[in-house]
Amino acid sequence: MKRKVPWILWLLSTIVMVMYLSNTMRSETADRGLFLPGVTTVGHYQIELACQVCHTPGMGVLQDACINCHGAELETASDSHPPKKFKPLDKADLVERLDARFCITCHQEHAADRTHAMGLTLPTDYCYHCHRDIAETRPNHAEFAFDSCASSGCHNFHDNRALNEPFLTAHLDTPDFLPVMTVAARAPVEAKPAAAPDAPDAPASKMTDPHVLDDFAASAHARAEVNCTDCHVAQPPSAVLESSPAQPRAAVSQIWIDKPDHTACARCHDHEAAGFLAGRHGMRLSQNMPPMTPAEARLPFKPEAAHRALTCNTCHGSHRYDTQTAAAESCMKCHDDPHTRAYAGSPHAKLWAAELAGEGAANTGVSCATCHLPRQTHREGDEEVVRVQHNQNDNLRPNEKMMRNVCLKCHGAQFSLDALADRALIDRNFTGQPAGHVESLDLIRTKIADLARKRAERNKPKP
Ligand code: HEC
Ligand code: HEC
Ligand code: HEC
Ligand code: HEC
Ligand code: HEC
Ligand code: HEC
Ligand code: HEC
Ligand code: HEC
Ligand code: HEC
Ligand code: HEC
Repeated sequence: MKRKVPWILWLLSTIVMVMYLSNTMRSETADRGLFLPGVTTVGHYQIELACQVCHTPGMGVLQDACINCHGAELETASDSHPPKKFKPLDKADLVERLDARFCITCHQEHAADRTHAMGLTLPTDYCYHCHRDIAETRPNHAEFAFDSCASSGCHNFHDNRALNEPFLTAHLDTPDFLPVMTVAARAPVEAKPAAAPDAPDAPASKMTDPHVLDDFAASAHARAEVNCTDCHVAQPPSAVLESSPAQPRAAVSQIWIDKPDHTACARCHDHEAAGFLAGRHGMRLSQNMPPMTPAEARLPFKPEAAHRALTCNTCHGSHRYDTQTAAAESCMKCHDDPHTRAYAGSPHAKLWAAELAGEGAANTGVSCATCHLPRQTHREGDEEVVRVQHNQNDNLRPNEKMMRNVCLKCHGAQFSLDALADRALIDRNFTGQPAGHVESLDLIRTKIADLARKRAERNKPKP
């Protein structure tokens, strides 16, 4: 009898805990954070309270959670080790060693003490499990340690678009500074005005602030005949595209929204909105959580910016929609790490200042956005269009991604990879020359020279 009391107490308290837990998980407001088993990774802590995007109600991990959010990006990156590579039966022995069919084999959560860069929760020599025989087919690999495969600029597990021999062969011997150094020009957003009105169409009570009217009048929106109600009045998703003079906009609800959010912009700028929501500026909004602020962040920020909310208007300003201020000045109002502080003194910043002053040619400046929100071509219908990639994480890590989309517009591959491998140079925001050479490139050079020699020997006329 004496021993049963604690047992019953234990049972009761467990039942109460489980009831509380499942209630908490269902309610919007309760403090779910209490049930986090540990510190969440850099990639996900902003949305850690949205337990349900990753977990089943019983706290298992949802089968497709990772793929739902990262599948498209890994596919674009032509993932070298996608789960489907490990499904065929002849891969059973590999799967037994390391089950790479599941993301959580390598990326667990809430386990800060064993989490490496990019959310990897395995010891860093894990390539060994599957490639222990590599030296048999590639004798020059015999001397390499297994924890160096992915750390010395040779390979990534997923994205090897910039680290494969054909790509490097094509770009390796380009000069450090290309003869023409420019990024692509932005494409105009196609104007989709409906019954294009000449005057602002807001109710008089909303037109009292001269700054709003002046900013708006000077904006690309006014030039493209986008009007006040396009943003300030809720519209069905197709209204802008389909309304014509025969179906005037007045047909839609006329309830004025004081502070339109990103969904108002997404109607005409879906590509920009999708990028923004997929990166660390907008990922909270993608989960219907309040916008991110520097006060909640892990990186260092200016104290005066602590409570600024991250929305489309943070960088663009709500009626001016100026893209030049957005590209560097706006970033520096929030970010405050050594890399950001070093930007103003860098050669790239001088190029950007020259472009703004009209002294440098268009598209030759290098702003924060040139590197972090780069102009990329993507498909819109049958066309290839240049648009700004608003997911600042898409090109960030591993950082050779940035080489492909950004540096190679102006620099050679050897110079770019050397610069990106130099952490101190990144901290100085690329003020100065790279400290050393990435050695793997010498290997590739030797290999290219070998192949050329063999080819020459084969083609030599026989005596
Ligand atoms: C971005 C996805 C993600 C979010 C959001 C998330 N988790 Fe997790 N969680 C994981 C992964 C992945 C694991 C590891 C599963 C494994 O190793 O089998 C995990 C493990 C756990 C575990 C088991 C820990 C252990 O040691 O076995 C608990 C409990 C848990 N999470 C609770 C929560 C709670 C509570 C929330 C919300 C407050 C939450 N998680 C939010 C991805 C997430
Ligand atoms: C709701 C969408 C969502 C879900 C679900 C999700 N992620 Fe993420 N993940 C993000 C976002 C957004 C980021 C931050 C931006 C970035 O780094 O791409 C991120 C970051 C990461 C990073 C870190 C990248 C870095 O540079 O540090 C890894 C690794 C990752 N996710 C893997 C996973 C895995 C594995 C799962 C499944 C357990 C998962 N994610 C579930 C949205 C999601
Ligand atoms: C065998 C281990 C392993 C498995 C399995 C794995 N990853 Fe990774 N992941 C890594 C490593 C290592 C990195 C660091 C960068 C690299 O080497 O590609 C990484 C980086 C990432 C990144 C950030 C960098 C990038 O290139 O975008 C994301 C996102 C990511 N993984 C998502 C996933 C998802 C989703 C899955 C499941 C489909 C998955 N990973 C399965 C090892 C793994
Ligand atoms: C779970 C097993 C597994 C792990 C872990 C693994 N690989 Fe692989 N890897 C494979 C398989 C399977 C292939 C495909 C071989 C084939 O197509 O015959 C492959 C192919 C490759 C290729 C050829 C490139 C390509 O696109 O086809 C390279 C390079 C490579 N792996 C490097 C690595 C590196 C570096 C690591 C560690 C960061 C690693 N692998 C970890 C199983 C693995
Ligand atoms: C009714 C459609 C529509 C809506 C809604 C809309 N825009 Fe635009 N936006 C346009 C058009 C058309 C242009 C003009 C493109 C041009 O001049 O080439 C434009 C241009 C821009 C530009 C580029 C300005 C420049 O100087 O090049 C930015 C930035 C912008 N919009 C942001 C936003 C934001 C943020 C929102 C939401 C608050 C928004 N837009 C809502 C249609 C729209
Ligand atoms: C491209 C979208 C867009 C257009 C077009 C637009 N607005 Fe706005 N407006 C916004 C956004 C977004 C906010 C909210 C800013 C915030 O969150 O602080 C806003 C806020 C306002 C406010 C609230 C005061 C303030 O500054 O916060 C007024 C008043 C206003 N707009 C009037 C107008 C008038 C009048 C027009 C037409 C001349 C107009 N707007 C055109 C997006 C737009
Ligand atoms: C972190 C700052 C930042 C945020 C947040 C931001 N933008 Fe931008 N946006 C920029 C910069 C910088 C440019 C111009 C870059 C350039 O000229 O290369 C730009 C360009 C644009 C353009 C011009 C068209 C094009 O080529 O893509 C549109 C439209 C636009 N943004 C819409 C949006 C919308 C909609 C949101 C919210 C979903 C948003 N922006 C959030 C910084 C931002
Ligand atoms: C309102 C303040 C604010 C503005 C303006 C802003 N950011 Fe951010 N930025 C943030 C916050 C907050 C994060 C998330 C940091 C964290 O989670 O620790 C972030 C994250 C980032 C990251 C990802 C860092 C990482 O390690 O994953 C990059 C890169 C970045 N911002 C660049 C920029 C650039 C470039 C601009 C201007 C075009 C800009 N930011 C404008 C607040 C801001
Ligand atoms: C020439 C290209 C370039 C320019 C210009 C540039 N950056 Fe970066 N930025 C990088 C690279 C490369 C990294 C490192 C990525 C990595 O390896 O983790 C980085 C990292 C960052 C990070 C992440 C820091 C961290 O510790 O996670 C932030 C935030 C950032 N940059 C903001 C900015 C801001 C703000 C500006 C303008 C004031 C700027 N950057 C200008 C290339 C650039
Ligand atoms: C629009 C063209 C352009 C892009 C994009 C660009 N750069 Fe540059 N970069 C230049 C020019 C021009 C110079 C020379 C500036 C000078 O000497 O005044 C330069 C200089 C440099 C320097 C030498 C600075 C010094 O003090 O000697 C480094 C390092 C560098 N860039 C790295 C990078 C990296 C890494 C990237 C990609 C993340 C990149 N750059 C993207 C144009 C560009």
